[in-house]
Order: sequence, then C-alpha cells, then structure tokens
Amino acid sequence: MVTGPVLPDATAYPLAGRVAVITGASSGIGMAAAEKLAAARVKLVLHGRRAARLAATAQKFPDVVWLEGDLVDGDAASRLLEMALKHFGTVNYAINNAGINHTGTIDQIDLDLLCQMVRINVEAAYRFTYTFLKHFQQENSGHLIHTTSVMGHKVRETAGGYAGTKHAIEALCEALRIELARSGVRVSCIAPGLVRTELHRDLDVHPSVSRNISRPLSAADVADAIYWVMCQPAHINIPQLVVLPQDHAI
Ligand SMILES: NC(=O)c1ccc[n+]([C@@H]2O[C@H](COP(=O)([O-])OP(=O)(O)OC[C@H]3O[C@@H](n4cnc5c(N)ncnc54)[C@H](OP(=O)(O)O)[C@@H]3O)[C@@H](O)[C@H]2O)c1
Repeated sequence: MVTGPVLPDATAYPLAGRVAVITGASSGIGMAAAEKLAAARVKLVLHGRRAARLAATAQKFPDVVWLEGDLVDGDAASRLLEMALKHFGTVNYAINNAGINHTGTIDQIDLDLLCQMVRINVEAAYRFTYTFLKHFQQENSGHLIHTTSVMGHKVRETAGGYAGTKHAIEALCEALRIELARSGVRVSCIAPGLVRTELHRDLDVHPSVSRNISRPLSAADVADAIYWVMCQPAHINIPQLVVLPQDHAI
C-alpha cells in the first residue's frame, strides 16, 4: 500500500508551471481555454472587457490574474506582457483569441460594424503578435497561438468581411512561421468551424439551424485542440489546425 502525500503526475500535467496569456477569456472559447489550462496548472493572464467574468474564473484557480480593457487600445498587448512578467516572471504562450463576427452581403453590410470587426480581429491581432513576438525572439522561445476560423480557409456568401479578417491572420501566421522557422519560437492557428458560443448572439437564427449542423463544437472541444497544440514537443509545430463539427458541410 502506498502511503504519504500524493504527488502530481508530471505526465498528467505536462505544462504545469508554464505561463499563458489569453485574450477573449471572458466568454466562449477563451473562457473554456482558461479553465482547461488553469486545471492543467498553467499560470494565466486573462484579458477581456467584462471584468466580472474574468474575476470569476480567477477566483476558481490559483495563479490566474486578469486585465480588463479593449484589445484595440494601442498599449493593451504591452500591458499584458508586463503583467505576465510582473506576476510570473516569464510568458511561454500568447493566445490571441478575442474576436467578433459581423456578417452581411457586401452591398448591404454595415461599414462601421465591418471596420470595428477589422480593428479587433485584425489590428488588435497584429499588435498582440508584434508585442509578444519581440519578447519571444529575445528569449528564443515561446508560442503564439491565434484562434482564426475555418473561414480563414474558405469563403461563403455573407461572410466576405469576417472571412477576410480570418484570412488575414492565417496569412500573418504563415509568413511568421517561415520567418521563425530557424528559431525557438512557434506560431499556430486554430481554425474552428461552428462553435456554440455567444459569438452569434446578434443573429435571429443561430447558424447551426440555418446551416443544418446538428451538433456544433463546444467551446471545450476547441480548448482541447488548443491544449493539444500547446503540448507538442519543441521540435514539432502545428501551424494550422482546422476543427469542424462532423456534419459541417462547408
Ligand atoms: N463561435 C464560432 O462559431 C467560432 C468559429 C470559428 C472561430 N471563432 C473565433 O473564436 C474566437 C472566440 O470567439 P467565441 O466563439 O468564443 O465568441 P465569444 O463567446 O463572443 O467570445 C469573444 C471574446 O472576445 C472578446 N472581445 C471581443 N471584442 C473585444 C475587444 N474589442 N476587446 C477585448 N476583448 C474583446 C470578448 O470579451 P468581452 O466582450 O468581455 O470584451 C469575448 O471574451 C473569435 O476570434 C472567433 O472569431 C469562433
């Protein structure tokens, strides 16, 4: 019979003690990723505008801090980096997940909403990448992960704007992957199909109904995919991972 304290199994928590920054952590995929990683003993810096939700996640786990704000603000990424360094002394993973979805045919789309989407989905993603890339290059280690979308690989009617923003980030990451290939810095895009989150809350009919998808992904399904990519050994990079509901005929 084994006696004494139960020691954590290192193979059960391969990322224990690592540090990750997650944007869009107040909802959906980002919140599920935060819960998954915190349970796997990763130290976290969370970001979003809805502070109460970030605080609620932080209360459940040790070593989780959060920063409230709009990711489009020019200094948001550097404040997140500073916070990670101040609280945890390092950062290993920078997960850019925040995003919005605004759809419409090109002749009818609301241009102001389209531009707002471009600012968060593209401008903020570039700013975030730029800041963490510089830090990771100094360290010659680190992993940048973006939640893009299957719409970063495909296009369909009413999604010209959204797909454009996601194609932009896939292009950014593909160039970056080549630029970083001889370094210790990795870059990955996780590209989900339809996920049941608050992303589509403004639509009258949920896309799972209009597109006849019986079982959309859950946010936890995508969090599992993100975690799997993070767990790969240093000599392996997963640059693109498309994750679809089985009956998502896109
Ligand atoms: N759901 C899907 O079907 C699906 C499919 C493929 C890809 N994706 C992508 O997955 C990512 C996460 O989306 P989700 O489905 O989890 O949607 P969600 O539940 O609506 O979450 C979006 C997150 O982004 C944050 N956010 C939005 N605008 C922000 C801003 N200006 N500044 C700071 N944070 C902002 C939100 O936080 P606050 O509102 O608190 O600021 C929230 O935490 C997005 O990039 C989305 O494009 C989603």
